[in-house]
Amino acid sequence: MANSPTGDTMAERIVRVLDTFSAERTVQTAAQIGRRSGLPSSTAHRIVDELVRAGLLERDDEHRVRLGMRLWELALRGSNALRLRQAALPFMSQVQARVREHTQLAVLEQDEALFLERLSHPEAGANITRIAGRLPLHASSSGLVLLAFGPDDLRRRVLAGPLVSVSPETITDPAVLSRVLDDIRRAGYVVAPGSIESVSTGIATPIRDVRGAVIAALSVVLPRDAPTSGPLDELRRASAGICAALASDRP
Ligand code: PHB
Repeated sequence: MANSPTGDTMAERIVRVLDTFSAERTVQTAAQIGRRSGLPSSTAHRIVDELVRAGLLERDDEHRVRLGMRLWELALRGSNALRLRQAALPFMSQVQARVREHTQLAVLEQDEALFLERLSHPEAGANITRIAGRLPLHASSSGLVLLAFGPDDLRRRVLAGPLVSVSPETITDPAVLSRVLDDIRRAGYVVAPGSIESVSTGIATPIRDVRGAVIAALSVVLPRDAPTSGPLDELRRASAGICAALASDRP
């Protein structure tokens, strides 16, 4: 693909424009996108116009821009994430109906836990997870499971640090984290009180594909001192159910 004077390809420039959007920054002007993408203003404006024409971005009456529905449609179409989410949803609903707090599905994405789904009871406790949001691997129950069962080089990278402290109880010592990951592999689950917020406990179990490889984590977030054994049983049953559903799924 054609390179710009700064050496990046057209695809890279488009990604830089799209990457300026986040969960907190959903609406921007083309000028803001230009500044935040680091692209020359005229380039950013041109790419924004083209993406609006293609439906990947949408422009409102005040000329501000947001990610378009067509981008969502294309991203999900036939994706593994959608297939996994569809297989998981009935089981997540069952967990959620019984636990009545928060039930979540996460996958490993670029060294972070990326959340594909979250179900929450209207009166559930605190939870900072957002759908399509990310949490650090070492500081969330889902992340710990994905890290424990992830590739060796991922573990090496994460253990090399820095292990940023998100709450007073986040594991920041690589030796402690390494032991915790060993425990998770042995036990097949994690109970992580306060690792990202002092007021909550996360519990997570791995979801495996037909070959036994861990492809996702299923978790619940509970108020800090809630009992954990019932929710853990629910998660284990649901993870096994999702694995079986994936095995019988014909794409
Ligand atoms: C967790 O997965 O450990 C977790 C996630 C979000 C929270 C609390 C705990 O708000």
